[in-house]
Amino acid sequence: MAAAVKIEDLHKSFKVGFIPKTKKILRGISMTIEEGEIFGYLGPNGAGKTTTLKCILGLIFPEKGNIEIFGYPYLSLRAKERVGYLPENPYFYDYLTASEFLHFYSQLSLIKKKEKEEKIHRFLRLVGLEESVNLQLRKFSRGMLQRIGLAQALIHDPSLVFLDEPLGSLDPLGRKEIRDIIVRLKEEGKTVFLCSHILQDIEMICDRVAIIVNGEIINQGQLQDLISEKIHFTEIILSGVESKELEGVGESVSALGGKILLKVIEEEKIETVLRIVQSRNGRIHSLIPRTETLEDLFVGMVKQG
Ligand SMILES: Nc1ncnc2c1ncn2[C@@H]1O[C@H](COP(=O)(O)OP(=O)(O)OP(=O)(O)O)[C@@H](O)[C@H]1O
Ligand SMILES: [Mg+2]
Repeated sequence: MAAAVKIEDLHKSFKVGFIPKTKKILRGISMTIEEGEIFGYLGPNGAGKTTTLKCILGLIFPEKGNIEIFGYPYLSLRAKERVGYLPENPYFYDYLTASEFLHFYSQLSLIKKKEKEEKIHRFLRLVGLEESVNLQLRKFSRGMLQRIGLAQALIHDPSLVFLDEPLGSLDPLGRKEIRDIIVRLKEEGKTVFLCSHILQDIEMICDRVAIIVNGEIINQGQLQDLISEKIHFTEIILSGVESKELEGVGESVSALGGKILLKVIEEEKIETVLRIVQSRNGRIHSLIPRTETLEDLFVGMVKQG
């Protein structure tokens, strides 16, 4: 079975400045996105995520490299008809209603008339907007606009969807709604390519990730392999003990309300802390083992890069 997307050694530069100078943006990107997975493309602002996406979609042309979509050359019709795309800053004709908007987009692809109504209804339901079908887009909240944008990207029922920062500028609830929809897309058998710099969102839903910094992929793979499960330290919040009694067991800082936040690196010292607290009739408010998160990994890599 061919991969959903296969990219080999992609190079892209732009000419910038008054006296044009070549600026290298992508410096040999290679990655493979398997069918049916949610693939996270992660990197800081300006790393080259959107540029990569525009190359894959055939909106701009790389100087070098090869791209295949489901085994077909990426510019072929067979590849293109299987792809849906939600851009970073989608533009909406905001005097249209949700239904008119999706009708408009469905005309742009070769959807049969009979199927059109069924599809519009199905995707409005999938993104949770069936009740806003006759509402004008200018009355939509940001989260609703992002959801109708998703419905637009799905209207021709693509097997592969590219989403560029679909969670940006949404509040936590809006982010959760979009994340849930993305997971539903995977359950329907679709492949999702998700660009983001929001680490927690990627961490929550992606099967595999690639991390791009300054036009280069610095790491890619399954999240479990990128993030070590090793406990780095344990964070204990306690009270009823003087901080000087905790010297030598860990780093402590005073927290709000007379509590102490203690960072214990050596595991065997945790018991010592518990004994001290017990002997002083103090209290343990919480004890949290901290493992490395994608965020730690990312920050470490960006520093190195
Ligand atoms: N048409 C262009 N002409 C010149 N430079 C460009 C052009 N498009 C992008 N760039 C530059 O390429 C670099 C990568 O941009 P890109 O939009 O791919 O980053 P990104 O990873 O998507 O960032 P963000 O997280 O901010 O969306 C940036 O430095 C940007 O200024
Ligand atoms: Mg971008």
